Amino acid sequence: MSDLLEQPKAETKPLSGAGKSYGIPMSVLAEITHRCPLQCPYCSNPVELDRANAELTTDEWKRVISEMADMGVLQIHFSGGEPTARRDLAELIRHATEVGLYSNLITSAVLLTRDRLAELSDAGLSHVQISFQGSEAQLADRVGGYRGGHGKKLEAARWTRELGLPLTINAVMHRQNLHQLPEIIEMAVALDAERLEVANVQYYGWALKNRAALMPTEEQVDWTTQIVEEARERLHGILAIDYVIPDYYALQPKKCMGGWGQQFFNISPSGKVLPCHAAESITGLQFDSIRDHSLAWIWENSPALNLYRGTDWMPEPCRSCALKEEDFGGCRCQAFALTGNASATDPACSFSPFHEKIFRAAKTEAEGSDQFIYRNFKGGTPEANRS
Ligand code: FES
Repeated sequence: MSDLLEQPKAETKPLSGAGKSYGIPMSVLAEITHRCPLQCPYCSNPVELDRANAELTTDEWKRVISEMADMGVLQIHFSGGEPTARRDLAELIRHATEVGLYSNLITSAVLLTRDRLAELSDAGLSHVQISFQGSEAQLADRVGGYRGGHGKKLEAARWTRELGLPLTINAVMHRQNLHQLPEIIEMAVALDAERLEVANVQYYGWALKNRAALMPTEEQVDWTTQIVEEARERLHGILAIDYVIPDYYALQPKKCMGGWGQQFFNISPSGKVLPCHAAESITGLQFDSIRDHSLAWIWENSPALNLYRGTDWMPEPCRSCALKEEDFGGCRCQAFALTGNASATDPACSFSPFHEKIFRAAKTEAEGSDQFIYRNFKGGTPEANRS
């Protein structure tokens, strides 16, 4: 899921009648559950997960999916947690199809069977994105904390193509698996994927706890960039590859989410409307729920969505920066995680007073321990990590 969020591509349409400078996103991320059988150390879900009994019901999701279509949204990404953990997923996809939405399934794939995938396809599923933790089982299963997971993913990827569904491979990359990138690229080609997302870990929420175990070295980042450039040229017309330099080694911040509350929103399992998947890591913000308001009302009026919209909220050096409408000051979640102030310039920016400090920290942490703190309720060492 993380890479979808790292590199949003949604275009926007004007919000009819509202006269606002922001638009309606063409796509929305629906996190229908936080339940997940994997235990990834870079999990992008909030540190406090929504419990199963707090999740929106089938009828509530169907209502909100209809509201998305009424607003003009075109695509829905069913995500989590692991969205296939919800038994009503086919019913939700069928409803999305009926109201005219293009539906994408963002999945770890370890719970899928061929019959279940065929059921989702029959319901109108348009696209499948499967996450991989490496190019081979030993490392991939250790990272995901799920024995046998890599083999299941390969199987599900083959079923996806057999059923005629387009496939994207999402490879979340960090110091402990970057050396496998050439094999991951070949794996994506062999699986007949049309797109590979080389997704660098983003360090907020749970991933922040594992930063020292995940941070790549500067040499790895340079090498990765070369590998991607060579593969893009060689595989032109065969495999599209998405990749951006990881924040801690960048000079300019990314235009996170296309700007806060401007091109994207996601809905949490319990119905909160968020400007990004990590926004709940910013303490003190209150997010409105679709249980209390319509989606259209929240998109226009939510104080949390309006807080960092546009450029008026910006402090210096963003306020007088010529690039302020290009990057919108970078990522608010990262600014909060690294400075304690969500209004600060993202330290990924070379004009941030914190920039040098985070670059030095990255170099130091890249020499840290490889031990993970897994995303499970014990924070312990799962079977798959023991060797
Ligand atoms: Fe960048 Fe939240 S993840 S603004």
